[in-house]
Amino acid sequence: MAVRKVVKRGDELLKKKSKKVHDFDENLAQLLDDMWDTMYANDGMGLAAVQVGVLRRAIIIDVNNLKAELINPEIFYTKGEDIEEEGCLSVENFHGKVKRPYKIMVRAQDRYGYPFEITGEKWLARCICHECDHLEGILFSDKVLNK
Ligand code: NI
Repeated sequence: MAVRKVVKRGDELLKKKSKKVHDFDENLAQLLDDMWDTMYANDGMGLAAVQVGVLRRAIIIDVNNLKAELINPEIFYTKGEDIEEEGCLSVENFHGKVKRPYKIMVRAQDRYGYPFEITGEKWLARCICHECDHLEGILFSDKVLNK
């Protein structure tokens, strides 16, 4: 377990699309363990692998006491709208309001490759959407209202 360096806005890596995870192996487990350490060391509530420099479709979240690792997440249902202020460990000294779905359903795999689904509302939905955007090379600051 180790705290890795967080990639910051301005680094082109954050604009790249992450690749699907095929190998649910020790490297993935190590990556996820390091992501937890890195996220907590920076007081974050979510983190995508690209933020520690790895272009793989893996995210972690810790929202409303739900801690989860989502590998190859796919949001397959959204409902409603919600506007709240967001921040990001890769975007320093900046917060802004972003419109997200109020409710989402996402399917993903765990670190062993087993599929599962999460239904989330409000902040849980927001956090998952924010992290899934990272996998597409999108930052919340690209979506801020009235910038
Ligand atoms: Ni972020």
